[in-house]
Amino acid sequence: MRILFASSEVAPFAKTGGLADVAGALPKALKTLGHDIRVVLPKYRAVDAVKHGLRRILPRLSVPIAGTVETAAVWEGAIGSVPAYFIQQDDYYDREGLYQVEGRDHPDNAERFAFFSRALIELTRAVAFTPTVYHCNDWQTALVPTYLRNTYQGDPEFQGAGVLFTVHNLGYQGLFKPATLAVANLGPELFTPFGIEFYGKVNFLKAGLVWSDLINTVSRKYSQEIQTEEFGHGLEGVLRSRGRDVSGILNGIDYEEWHPSRDPIIASRFSRDDPAGKAVCKADLQRTFGLPERPETPVLAVISRLAAQKGIDLIAESLDAILAMDAQFVLLGTGEPGLEKIFETAKARHPSRVGLRLGFDVGLSHKIEAGADIFLMPSRYEPCGLNQMYSLAYGTIPLVRATGGLDDTIQPFDPARGTGNGFKFAEATGATLLATVRRALELYRSPDQWRRLIRNAMACDFSWDRSAKEYEALYQEIASRHTR
Ligand code: ADP
Ligand code: GLC
Repeated sequence: MRILFASSEVAPFAKTGGLADVAGALPKALKTLGHDIRVVLPKYRAVDAVKHGLRRILPRLSVPIAGTVETAAVWEGAIGSVPAYFIQQDDYYDREGLYQVEGRDHPDNAERFAFFSRALIELTRAVAFTPTVYHCNDWQTALVPTYLRNTYQGDPEFQGAGVLFTVHNLGYQGLFKPATLAVANLGPELFTPFGIEFYGKVNFLKAGLVWSDLINTVSRKYSQEIQTEEFGHGLEGVLRSRGRDVSGILNGIDYEEWHPSRDPIIASRFSRDDPAGKAVCKADLQRTFGLPERPETPVLAVISRLAAQKGIDLIAESLDAILAMDAQFVLLGTGEPGLEKIFETAKARHPSRVGLRLGFDVGLSHKIEAGADIFLMPSRYEPCGLNQMYSLAYGTIPLVRATGGLDDTIQPFDPARGTGNGFKFAEATGATLLATVRRALELYRSPDQWRRLIRNAMACDFSWDRSAKEYEALYQEIASRHTR
């Protein structure tokens, strides 16, 4: 099948979170299954054209937007053998930050991503690549099905085109004022509760849910959660009405990028059968963060967007008590200024126990995965979560809240039977997190049990091939609907 995988971020070109990892890895697995899959993203300032060997293939692509016609250029590069297209429009994308600067959204995000969505449809026409399925991801590409089912409805070229819409995070919907409709070149007839309207606003994500053939999320648990009021962010009704078309496919991870036996970034390579190098990585991590190099002191780690979703406040609440259990804590993250401040204060209070890096640093994230003992993810909700899977690969034990993909991937360790790969708790309170950390640290003091737990963790396999086959099945279902 011919698939165009549309994403607002794709590793290694441009990344703010897990969507980029998925967009950089899943297409490779689908290519291996024999599909003609191509990826498309905006050519942001952050995209290094020289480093990635990009070349301009189309100098002028006409794209209707905001009642006029703008032009874009198209560049091409590759992720392995998967072609990647880049939409260049410097007024929109040649600036600091993919979506925001200093915590503030770019004021023209609606136009930037309406343009991207419209441009990628025009791109398929210009390069004569007619997708069987447009695979769209999150609100930034949610107008693709909206355009295909409305604007391009009568256009024979796009008659057979299906759309799969993947929800990576329902918390970000692309909510804008009603005037956005005209900016996106969409007619007022779409502004209804059965269309793009959402409590008086334009909601891109909702439009994606309404006009796609099939919808999936990135774990089975989250696909059920989002159909409830607690997790639906107001869209549970729409999702329930499409219930038969909603499914969950767990993300995989890219073991080419994330494997301790061949990771070029970490201080020493190691594996399940030869784990000695992990101690070297731990010492390196402690050194990197200026913490005392103590092999026996457990290191707890966080790598995260600092956002309410991630339950970071629960960590802040219990941090003093955690550190009092003779532990070290390192955090790599960036996000809400209030949360950043809390950890700066904690670092000032406990300089020999807290390591802090406020920023985005992929290299450091590998060193943390390799060197830490325990990885904390107390998320309030988590569509899938990748870091718990990276942690398992590096023998770093995840301690998670039982939600979404965290619940689907982590089974509590049972010391009597020697089964399980981590620690899990249900109640979203600092006290419950603390009690779970206490249990984990008790087990850490039993080296035989802890070794067993690490071996279980490192035996887990989340390679993409299984999930890619599930995506293939969805593509097939969509294709069959369109040929009927
Ligand atoms: P989300 O997409 O909700 O942020 P995921 O767990 O799916 O959560 O993916 C987050 C990805 O972003 C992981 O690859 C993680 O290592 C990375 N990441 C998050 N924050 C940082 C940071 N400050 N520096 C480097 N990588 C980060
Ligand atoms: C989102 C989610 C995260 C998921 C990622 C990739 O940003 O918050 O849980 O792993 O997308 O699907």
